[in-house]
Amino acid sequence: MPNTRTVKITEHLHYIGVNDRYTHLFESMWPLPDGISYNSYFFDGGSKTCLIDCVKVHSISEFMDKLTEVLKGRPLDYVVVNHMEPDHTSSVRTIRELFPECKIITSKKALPFLKNYYELEEGIIVVGDGETFQIGERALTFYQTPMVHWPESQVAFEEETGILFSQDAFGGFGTLDGAIFADQINTDFYEDETIRYYTNIVGKYSIQVQRALKKLGGLDIKMICPDHGPVWRENIEWIVNLYDQLSAQRTKDGVLIVYGSMYGNTEMVAEAIGRALAAEGIKEIRIRDVSKTHLSNLISEAWTYKGLILGCPTYNVGLFPPMANLIQVLKKQKMKNHIIGTFSNYSWGGGAEKLLDQFAEESGYQVLPTQINVKGHPGEECLNLCEQLGKEMAAALKGQDN
Ligand code: FEO
Repeated sequence: MPNTRTVKITEHLHYIGVNDRYTHLFESMWPLPDGISYNSYFFDGGSKTCLIDCVKVHSISEFMDKLTEVLKGRPLDYVVVNHMEPDHTSSVRTIRELFPECKIITSKKALPFLKNYYELEEGIIVVGDGETFQIGERALTFYQTPMVHWPESQVAFEEETGILFSQDAFGGFGTLDGAIFADQINTDFYEDETIRYYTNIVGKYSIQVQRALKKLGGLDIKMICPDHGPVWRENIEWIVNLYDQLSAQRTKDGVLIVYGSMYGNTEMVAEAIGRALAAEGIKEIRIRDVSKTHLSNLISEAWTYKGLILGCPTYNVGLFPPMANLIQVLKKQKMKNHIIGTFSNYSWGGGAEKLLDQFAEESGYQVLPTQINVKGHPGEECLNLCEQLGKEMAAALKGQDN
């Protein structure tokens, strides 16, 4: 008996996506402790049939069972490719082999991707920005959303029903465990995983996300069908506002302290700063060991909180390598609206302090004046500086001069 668990969304639309609980790292980098869904939709235009986005090829067998179920013996006429990343397209060549007559509907920028990844050059219909294409008795209008999250990305909108097929936008990590609709799920988990997905995968293109939100803002959207995570048919403003908040980089009044520490001395500095912040009434404080916390979570929390304090020992007259890696990544994240402080440990030769300060100065964030460079174990003088740094951060968060 084939595994056919398609979900009817409307009379003309079925969910035929799959869950992935076996991949450890999305893009071979980002942890998937609770998996991920690759959403695909069967759009029935009456006299024509259409698939909207596909799934990762590893699940092709389950995907084909679902597609076969909803086709009910009819041919597949169209495949909409809104986004070329292989988590949504690596099954498209197989689909074409099984349905050689089906046409691929996509953006012009997707053409080289289809050729380079799948040697597909024939049977492709290019749609432009704002162009409407008839799928039998129904119609889809396409809007280009470049860099959300690749250059060729577009979304599809059915004006008649107000359904938006948003590809990566409004999606998140995490499988769909039973229900596919957000209104049938406690979305606390998806909120965290949507933030992690956004900040890890899409965040650096936030200017383009803001542009896309403005472009789509004029549409009468009644349902959002993303390529990951739940389908939104109620309380759509919630997920749109979350995306707006993240892409506009409206940070929260909290502090992320990330430290590296080989023998616990630099960790003591982090703890002392954390205590000083708490004494000043800051309620959201996260202290993370850079060696043990995955980069994925550090990016997510750094994006979320306005306050960022980084500290590590000198290692071979430079930055402690895990901190050097974090800083390299943060440089590319293009984060805004942050306040930064730094601390370092001289270790046996010093050097980390200069590189941390350089990062802070070049970051474009508000830089706190107190700099801490402890020699080995933090003594009274160092702890006083920690208190000072905590006070400066708290005052800056409250918008006061210290
Ligand atoms: Fe879900 Fe950018 O791919």
